[in-house]
Amino acid sequence: MSGTPAREATEAARQAVARRWQAIDPLLPDPSEPAKTCGTDLAVTSADGRVVATGYCRHMHVRPGSLELAWGAASQFALTPWVAGPDVGNGLGQLLERWRSHLARQQDAADEDSEAMVRWPSRDVGGVRVLLEHGLRPLTVVAARAAGRAIDGSTVRARTAGLRIRRAGEGDVDALERLGMEMMRYDAHFGSVTVRDDTALGLRQSAVRTLAAAQPWTWLAERDGEEAGMVQAEPPEAAGWVAPLVRAQPVAYLGEMSVLPGVRGAGVGTALVEHLHRELDAAGAAVTLLHHAQLNPLSAPFWNRMGYRPLWTSWEVRPARLS
Ligand SMILES: CC(C)(COP(=O)(O)OP(=O)(O)OC[C@H]1O[C@@H](n2cnc3c(N)ncnc32)[C@H](O)[C@@H]1OP(=O)(O)O)[C@@H](O)C(=O)NCCC(=O)NCCS
Repeated sequence: MSGTPAREATEAARQAVARRWQAIDPLLPDPSEPAKTCGTDLAVTSADGRVVATGYCRHMHVRPGSLELAWGAASQFALTPWVAGPDVGNGLGQLLERWRSHLARQQDAADEDSEAMVRWPSRDVGGVRVLLEHGLRPLTVVAARAAGRAIDGSTVRARTAGLRIRRAGEGDVDALERLGMEMMRYDAHFGSVTVRDDTALGLRQSAVRTLAAAQPWTWLAERDGEEAGMVQAEPPEAAGWVAPLVRAQPVAYLGEMSVLPGVRGAGVGTALVEHLHRELDAAGAAVTLLHHAQLNPLSAPFWNRMGYRPLWTSWEVRPARLS
């Protein structure tokens, strides 16, 4: 049964979701209503008027030429689902049915370059089967590392002799573009990244902006004087945009990590991340978040050994039509 629920019923559902999330994963934040939603009522209510699930849909159109288009489609439809339980699969299933009807009425949701996305807590396993049944695929993970968590680098440390890590500067634009493109090309195998005609230019412009800072949060690894890898991050004062995703604060964000194909598996990545973690711990970050492709066979085990674990999983389908 569905209809416009009373404000109190929605608030009761929000509180039930908050309790459920805390029991599942202590790093999850309290649920909060996202900004700029389309305003469509997606609430699912029980016969006694209780809200068992509700969701907020946001429509986004990415500007042509934006680097954002490497990570997402031109037209994006994002659902923020709140499922109170106790039957999580059933509540989420009904919510997705309502969202499917909503998307079916949006003309640009049928465009080839469109996508539907649901960010779901990685440990909320009661929803996984239903997400799969609606044709959504778990493409991207937001992983979290609490400050001080140790790296398991025992197998690669011995191989890092002769490696130099240094902060990047204005002369490193070419190196960052090249390393950024290697990361994009590799991640393009896994469904969420698309290398577009202007992706290299976008990476170059982004590198110019980043390196214009007095102390850029970007480090390069060099082997025999040649660049081998890079890591780029945002300290807490620049990562406010990602803070609502996690309970611990302040939060930092690890944005890019790339090692050139010929030197992968030789400890360069571990050395870069060890260096970055020292900087982040000194900057007072309680937690660091990053995105990685779920299906990338290098990044999932690598980040786990670096102390990161899944917090949110982004379930996606292109074009933006649910099964
Ligand atoms: C993920 C990545 C940054 C890790 O950097 P790296 O320098 O390869 O990492 P390390 O050498 O420190 O550790 C890599 C681990 O993979 C193993 N490995 C073995 N062969 C490998 C290969 N051909 N390529 C990569 N890793 C390999 C390493 O041995 C090591 O594991 P171990 O504990 O079994 O020894 C790097 O592989 C990379 O740039 N991948 C492509 C782009 C990408 O996925 N970026 C991350 C986006 S989130």
